[in-house]
Amino acid sequence: MAGRIPQSFIDDMLARIDIVDVVGQRIALKRAGKEYQARCPFHDERSPSFTVSPTKQFYHCFGCGAHGTALGFLMQYDGLEFVDAVEQLAGQLGMTVPELSSARDRGTEDLYALLAETADYYQQQLGLSEATRGYLQRRGISPEITEQFGLGYAPAGWDNLLKRFGGNRQKLLAAAGLLSQGDRGQYDKFRDRLMFPIHDRRGRVIAYGGRVMGDEQPKYLNSPETQVFHKGETLYGLFQARQRKGGLQRLIVVEGYMDVLALAQHGFSESVATLGTATTRSHAELLFRQAGDVIFCFDGDRAGRDAAWRALESVLPRLTDGRQAHFLFLPDGEDPDSLLGKQGKEGFEAQLQAAVPLSEYFFQSLSKDARLDTVDGRARLVERCKPLIEQIPDSPFRDLMEAELARRSGAQRPANSAASAPPGVDRRPPRQTRMGQLGVLRTPVRALISLLLSNPKMAAGVAQPPPFVGLSLPGIDLLLRLIERLRSSPAPAGAVIESWEDPREAHAMRRLAEVELAGAEADWQVAFDGYIQILVERLDQERAANMPMQLDQLSADDRRRYLEQLSAKAEADRRGRFKLD
Ligand code: CTP
Ligand code: MN
Repeated sequence: MAGRIPQSFIDDMLARIDIVDVVGQRIALKRAGKEYQARCPFHDERSPSFTVSPTKQFYHCFGCGAHGTALGFLMQYDGLEFVDAVEQLAGQLGMTVPELSSARDRGTEDLYALLAETADYYQQQLGLSEATRGYLQRRGISPEITEQFGLGYAPAGWDNLLKRFGGNRQKLLAAAGLLSQGDRGQYDKFRDRLMFPIHDRRGRVIAYGGRVMGDEQPKYLNSPETQVFHKGETLYGLFQARQRKGGLQRLIVVEGYMDVLALAQHGFSESVATLGTATTRSHAELLFRQAGDVIFCFDGDRAGRDAAWRALESVLPRLTDGRQAHFLFLPDGEDPDSLLGKQGKEGFEAQLQAAVPLSEYFFQSLSKDARLDTVDGRARLVERCKPLIEQIPDSPFRDLMEAELARRSGAQRPANSAASAPPGVDRRPPRQTRMGQLGVLRTPVRALISLLLSNPKMAAGVAQPPPFVGLSLPGIDLLLRLIERLRSSPAPAGAVIESWEDPREAHAMRRLAEVELAGAEADWQVAFDGYIQILVERLDQERAANMPMQLDQLSADDRRRYLEQLSAKAEADRRGRFKLD
């Protein structure tokens, strides 16, 4: 799509608009020197790290790294597609987007118009069909929700649409996906069905789902892909969800039309459905553009698990800072609609609250039949996880996932781990943990300090003496003293920093305390343990580097472990993927 609007037009448009106006219309900006500041609208924060520069005409958040032009802001903040954002800005400036008036687009205009007319027609028919309204009533759908979702009824008969909208528009009817082709010509595709119009984000009808009200087959019929309908990029109910007052904090993704309606009926207007397809990457992006939190609900059966895993795969590359995915597996045989019927609003909310974070679902699924008590099993776990984790954009969350993988695959090492990285096996310098744009968090030591400052109680869980004592890394001394301080009293960061003796260290800690941690609180302990594990491994490496080079100088036990390690490494290298860091 982007290619269809000339870059020169976009440049021209951006030159005429002031990003300060565009952003300022949506969030409160405060002047700060040459720039403007605000609390970042794209992640939760207490102190403003979001800046808008009128001279550079861009915005940037030092917290989550969000950045872009006025156009990018509109896309991210309003959840608009590129073309829609261009149109909106152009509209404000009174400019006409050149390509949008082409002949091709006039064609789609006609399609939209026809679809709108058919939607009106189906709605009228619903008004006339007592049976359909009775069906909706039995399924607990109120007239308000019926109206909000524009539900309709396609009457029985082969040519209702044909007669009404055919004539010189028959071709268009077919292009809209509303006709079927038979031996003796075309006929209405949807007959005697409850109709669910599918809207695009602007509220235009682009397709339909139609449900039988008895036991006929197929239960649902859906519009085919057309010029204006692309299943993989469309979410049922998104238009309605975006009308939600107070904006969207989260989105609930379900599998069915009726689930969306039932959820809306119970006040969960933030729900959408994929249209009988797997969750695509476009879906994932679309979802996260609306809300930072996405909860996927799936059936607990095999098909549901497969669908959930596909969703996870689609989501990974979209997990930039401030975005979280959760998974809710419903009891066998239930869908959100049926569950709401039994448990009501509160019951379902409780289910939502208990949804598993992506990280947990990820490691649970991939550890399932890996035997983590064996070198092979751990290598297999690494092999499975690595390519997936690599798809996560560079961010603290990815670091957490890597740390967790390190923890899980390293947890069962031999007790005398001095032999785990013998001389000559791996002399690469320890990799610095990636901490995204958060420059201050670039090392495990800093990450640990940061985590401790946000969660002083975690200090109590560190073994005594800490298992990495003796490691020589910058900041390790400070870390050890901080752990000691917090073990005696888990004071909040402010108090600890204020009372800290060394002012330079206090300053460093203040910066680390300001860092907003990514992920859910439940993940922090996991991350904390993971980073400790990394330090322990560094200590092992340090010790190993100082070990005698001669095998015959090793104790019999260490020699055996060393040789075991060597062969495990060789085996893993053969498989080509064993690189923990
Ligand atoms: N679906 C479909 N074609 C079918 C069956 C299902 O496209 N023949 C899609 C529809 O999008 C449907 C979703 O898969 O909404 C889930 O199917 P199902 O659970 O059977 O439907 P529900 O939405 O739960 O509908 P109902 O409660 O009315 O049975
Ligand atoms: Mn159902």
